[in-house]
Amino acid sequence: MIELLTGGWRAQLARVGVELGIPDLLAGADLTVAELSTRTAVPQNLMYRLMRGLDSIGIAARIPDRPDGTTDAGATYALGPLGVHMVDGPGSMRDACLLYGDEFHSAWGNAPVAFGSSATGFEATYGTELIPYLAANPPVAKRFQSALAATSFYFDLLADAMEVPVHGVVVDIAGGSGALLTQVLQARPHARGVLTDLPHMLAIADGAFADAGLTERVTTMSVDLFRGRLPKDADIYVLSRVLGDWSDEECERILTNIKVAMGCRSRLWIVERLTRDDGSAPLATLWDLHLHVVNGGRQRSIREYQRLAEDCGLEILEDKRLPADNAALALRLR
Ligand SMILES: C[S@@+](CC[C@H](N)C(=O)[O-])C[C@H]1O[C@@H](n2cnc3c(N)ncnc32)[C@H](O)[C@@H]1O
Repeated sequence: MIELLTGGWRAQLARVGVELGIPDLLAGADLTVAELSTRTAVPQNLMYRLMRGLDSIGIAARIPDRPDGTTDAGATYALGPLGVHMVDGPGSMRDACLLYGDEFHSAWGNAPVAFGSSATGFEATYGTELIPYLAANPPVAKRFQSALAATSFYFDLLADAMEVPVHGVVVDIAGGSGALLTQVLQARPHARGVLTDLPHMLAIADGAFADAGLTERVTTMSVDLFRGRLPKDADIYVLSRVLGDWSDEECERILTNIKVAMGCRSRLWIVERLTRDDGSAPLATLWDLHLHVVNGGRQRSIREYQRLAEDCGLEILEDKRLPADNAALALRLR
């Protein structure tokens, strides 16, 4: 029970460690408490306690074989097994740690509002919904995308799972930072891609495609999910981690809009966490509640996706399970 109640403390401890740059410092060299104190301006006695805490959650690891018995200041730390993933750089969980410890944590602080009214916890905290907040705060939008990218470890499985044709055209709808399309185009060197999103996201995606040397093979377009015109008759349309942000009515509008662009050979792949009622998908269960608190969204079961698809004149052809309760569902026109 105490572990349950103190879960939020651990997330905050991780956030403090990252904000002070401890994983980055330890990535450079093993350091003593005295050295860490000098570099972070945290007083030595407090730094000793903080490092003991970061050790207890796997972000730092005390080196036992040093002659550190004499003073706390001499205790030496290396990067811990989780700290390795928090060092700044591509694929780092650093931004996820900051986003979950700051904006999402504050939104969860107003979770009771989200279960007792029509407002979200995010809106109760920040006075605006998540998407407009991100549009108005580019550094947080960048952090959000980098957090999404760091939790996209299964994207490399998707080019095969989605059966992307060798010379196919893939339209990644609300594709965010472009992480998924990058992986797909790297796995299919003759395929071409289109990424659509809101205007403030396109610069981030353009940067990612340029870094990956894919600029010639990708077009980015500002297209509103609900009413914007999508390229017609593409081989593959992708909706990854999008429908979870919206209500059933909004999902129907999104799917109906995509349907207008789809041809009879097109496939729409939905990539989302799938809920189950038998306790076998704990991450999807938690994310379902997180989406509700943060932006009024939800995760769905396979049955709920089947119903949505049917209501929109689509049918689910394939259901491929991915790690961490994720799945890729293939839909075609009915
Ligand atoms: C959770 S992110 C998913 C991004 C990406 N598909 C992925 O899996 O990493 C949701 C995306 O939807 C985009 N979005 C939100 N509202 C939109 C709208 N009305 N039209 C187009 N894109 C929208 C956001 O900008 C964001 O990039």
